[in-house]
Amino acid sequence: MAKVWIERIFTDPEVYLLRIDDEKIKYFEASWDIPEGISYNAYLVKLNGANVLIDGWKESYSNDFLKALSNLIDPKDITHIIVNHTEPDHSGTLPGILNANKNRAKVIASNFAKKLLESFYNITNVEAVSDNQQMQIGEKTFRFVMTPWLHWPDTMVTYLDGVLFGCDVGGGYSLPSAIDDSDERTVEEYLPYVTKYIVTVIGHYKGYILEGAKKLSSLDIKALLPGHGLIWKKDPQRLLQHYVNVANGVAQKRKILVVYDSMYGFVENVMNKVLDTLREKGFNLVVYRFTDQHDSPVSEILKDVPDSRALVFGVSTYEADIHPKMRYVLYEIMDKANYEKPVLFFGVHGWAASVELTVKKILKDSKFKFVSFVETKGGKIDEEKMKQAIEALLKELE
Ligand code: FEO
Repeated sequence: MAKVWIERIFTDPEVYLLRIDDEKIKYFEASWDIPEGISYNAYLVKLNGANVLIDGWKESYSNDFLKALSNLIDPKDITHIIVNHTEPDHSGTLPGILNANKNRAKVIASNFAKKLLESFYNITNVEAVSDNQQMQIGEKTFRFVMTPWLHWPDTMVTYLDGVLFGCDVGGGYSLPSAIDDSDERTVEEYLPYVTKYIVTVIGHYKGYILEGAKKLSSLDIKALLPGHGLIWKKDPQRLLQHYVNVANGVAQKRKILVVYDSMYGFVENVMNKVLDTLREKGFNLVVYRFTDQHDSPVSEILKDVPDSRALVFGVSTYEADIHPKMRYVLYEIMDKANYEKPVLFFGVHGWAASVELTVKKILKDSKFKFVSFVETKGGKIDEEKMKQAIEALLKELE
């Protein structure tokens, strides 16, 4: 049974967290390996004369959500439901709640979300709000700020008395053992899962993170309550800055990401020499490989792109093309983690060299700086050429 957290976060206004830990999930968006799981966070704000529910959980947890909510309030007494984002990991429980509520609550969402709610759930009684619109609910003023593409075009955040209800904005994977950022060790363990979440989920739209951060900087944010993961009461700016750093690809000085495939060990022989040389130069190498003994989660590879100084790939030739695993990795990096960082390739072929062209085609419209492609027949590397290529890479890092 999934763990449910029902916690009072603030007393004025009275804000409650409703969090469920989804440890059954294996592949977020049916794509990204997350053995660490993910939580869905919803919030209830109790006011004089109004009760406001903000977001929800995934549809498969509808009964759990109704039960958790009923610990705090009779669902019929909810007066307003704010839908910050309609992706079903947050909106899936909405039909069940509206049913229990006898459709009494006013549903509030962006104009785009209004259309999605109709197409997803046939919910039509939605009040659409515009950017920066304020709304008096109970004795409080809520403000809605549009943050499109974080993560869908429908997305907005809700601001109330210094508290930002961010939904996907501020989220991360994993099931933190605490609810908030008060313990430093918990935060340090959690932040890599935030990076992984940003790159895999929002990475394609990461330019909008910078636009969104600029927009939100005008608000005095004292707490950030996201739709996934830890809530940020002690230092919400730390999390917002982390988002900006990931979007900008702020790198660790000595970190290099290395990814290769090796069907019969030829590429691995080449890459072992490359790895030894880079280690001798004092770099911290994060290595992922695809062999007949190893597979690597692409979500983890993506997570390690933003804070790497450079990327080094080893690729074998497969049907006169690039190995299928590496093709997938490269396409996903180009799509989700496209940064101005140098990249170096080592290719191995048996009877004909052909992969360099494929690689250049994949990289053509990317931001990556192509340093060199060192081609090797049968894995017998020309060490002089390898050293020259690494020197060229190091020059880029000066
Ligand atoms: Fe957490 Fe875009 O949904």
